[in-house]
Amino acid sequence: AAEQFEHTVLSGKRVVITAGPTREPLDPVRYISNHSSGKMGYALAEAAADAGASVKLVSGPVMLPVPPRVECVQVETAEEMLAATLDGIEACDLFIAAAAVADYRPVAIAEHKIKKGSEEIMELRLVKNPDIVATVAGLETGRPFTVGFAAETRDVIDYARSKLARKRLDLIVANDVSNPEIGFNSDDNAVTLVSAEGETGLPQTSKRQLARQLIEQIAQHYLKSTS
Ligand code: CTP
Ligand code: CA
Repeated sequence: AAEQFEHTVLSGKRVVITAGPTREPLDPVRYISNHSSGKMGYALAEAAADAGASVKLVSGPVMLPVPPRVECVQVETAEEMLAATLDGIEACDLFIAAAAVADYRPVAIAEHKIKKGSEEIMELRLVKNPDIVATVAGLETGRPFTVGFAAETRDVIDYARSKLARKRLDLIVANDVSNPEIGFNSDDNAVTLVSAEGETGLPQTSKRQLARQLIEQIAQHYLKSTS
């Protein structure tokens, strides 16, 4: 309980966080998804709530308990995640996109289970999903301070910087997912927080600890932007 009084940098602020993978159905029994565990997003939600914020977590399917004092909206697809994120976004101060959103979804969902045919090669037709963080960052009214993640396996900072600019984000958390010790499903992470002005490296530690440091840093940037 004492920690709630130590870190109140976000007291009275509303924070929306996306977390986990999305799941894009092909037919009633199959989907396209990824290995995101949701751990980083859930740790950020916990840290933001401990820092005094009121937190809405928009979560894809994961096996994690919802942190105390966090409102969780469960979604499956990218389109559902976008709708849940935009619902009430104008009242939100800070948006953090930690979800691993599927970039594409099947063009159509088959009504019945797709049967195995005689062909050796089968092709799937996919259509691009909406970009949730770019949509929020592009809002003309009620745009919150917007933070993205960049999961990269090479040229991590360069790619992160280009995403920061292309999506018009305020900050981006660059994450090297080529290292299995700090990858998608691990308990630890190490990141670099990238802004237009510079970079701050946060060395390897538990996702829980890293989330506290990230919320502290993000809050400083956010508060500076409003002063
Ligand atoms: N993101 C999002 N909606 C999408 C795709 C990504 O909100 N449809 C967000 C992620 O939550 C993350 C950031 O955008 O905060 C970067 O995601 P990433 O997958 O690294 O970037 P992409 O633009 O999808 O580029 P690529 O996968 O080609 O690297
Ligand atoms: Ca992507």
